[in-house]
Amino acid sequence: MTENIKDKVVVITGASSGLGEETARHLVASGAKVALGARRLDKLNALVAELGVENASAFEGDVTNREAVEAFVTDARAKWGKIDAMLHNAGVMPLAPLAMKRTDEWDRCIDVNLKGVLYGIGAVLPIMQEQGYGQNLFVSSVAGHVVNPVGAVYCATKFGVRAIAESLRQEVKGHGPLRTTILSPGAVDTELPGSVKAEGVHEAVVGLYDQYAIPASSFARSVIFALSQPAEVDINEILFRPTSQER
Ligand SMILES: NC(=O)c1ccc[n+]([C@@H]2O[C@H](COP(=O)([O-])OP(=O)(O)OC[C@H]3O[C@@H](n4cnc5c(N)ncnc54)[C@H](OP(=O)(O)O)[C@@H]3O)[C@@H](O)[C@H]2O)c1
Repeated sequence: MTENIKDKVVVITGASSGLGEETARHLVASGAKVALGARRLDKLNALVAELGVENASAFEGDVTNREAVEAFVTDARAKWGKIDAMLHNAGVMPLAPLAMKRTDEWDRCIDVNLKGVLYGIGAVLPIMQEQGYGQNLFVSSVAGHVVNPVGAVYCATKFGVRAIAESLRQEVKGHGPLRTTILSPGAVDTELPGSVKAEGVHEAVVGLYDQYAIPASSFARSVIFALSQPAEVDINEILFRPTSQER
C-alpha cells in the first residue's frame, strides 16, 4: 500500500492537529517528505521535531491570506525541490441554525473552507503544470454529500469543495498526469468539534463525536491509498464513515 510514496513531497494545510497531523505521520512513515502549514507554529514545530527535519518543514500561515498561501507553497518547493501532492485540508466547522444569524462564522467558514482551498490551488497548480505531474487531494466530508439542519454553511462549503475538485479534474486533463482526489470522512476524532461554538449545537456535536468518532488514522490510510496508486490511476473520490454512523 505504501509503494509510490517514498520520496514524494506532500504539502499539507491544516497540519497542526487532527487529520493533517496524523496524515503527516503516516506519510513520513511511508518515506515521504512533508511541508506542514497552519497558524499554530508551535504545534507544527513540535511535529517537525517528532518527524525529523530531514523529513518535514513548518510554515506559519493563514489560508484566508492569499499571499501567505503562495509563500507557503513557494517555500515548500524551494526547500524540497518539487511538489508531488498537496492535501488541501485546513477547515473549520461552525455548525449552527441559520436563524441564529452567526454571520461572522458564515464568513469565516467560507473564507477558510472555500477561499483557502482556491488559494491553495492557485499557488500549486502552476508548479504542477510546469513539472508535468502532481496530485491535489481535497477534504470534503459526508457533509459534502448529505445536508443537515445545522450545517447550511458548512455543507455548502463541503459541497463546494467537491465541485471545485471535480472541475479541476476535468480542466487539467491533457496537462500530464495531474490527479485529483476528494476525501469525504464522517466523524473522525480531532479538534474539529471545538469549532462549533453555538450554544446547544456544540454540546450535541461533542456528544455525537464521543459516541462514534473513529481515529484520524482512518483518514491517513485513505490518503496513503490514493497517493500510492501508479500514475495512470486517478482515485477521484473516497467517502467513509464510522461503521456506527447512520447519516
Ligand atoms: N474530523 C472530522 O470529523 C471531519 C469530517 C469531515 C471532514 N473534516 C475536514 O477535515 C479537515 C481537517 O479538520 P480536522 O478534523 O483535522 O480538524 P482540526 O483538528 O480542528 O484541524 C483543523 C486544521 O485546520 C487548520 N486551520 C483552521 N483554520 C485555519 C486557517 N485560517 N489557516 C490555516 N489553517 C487553519 C488548523 O490549524 P491552526 O488552528 O493551527 O491554524 C488545524 O490544523 C477540515 O477541512 C474538516 O472540515 C473533518
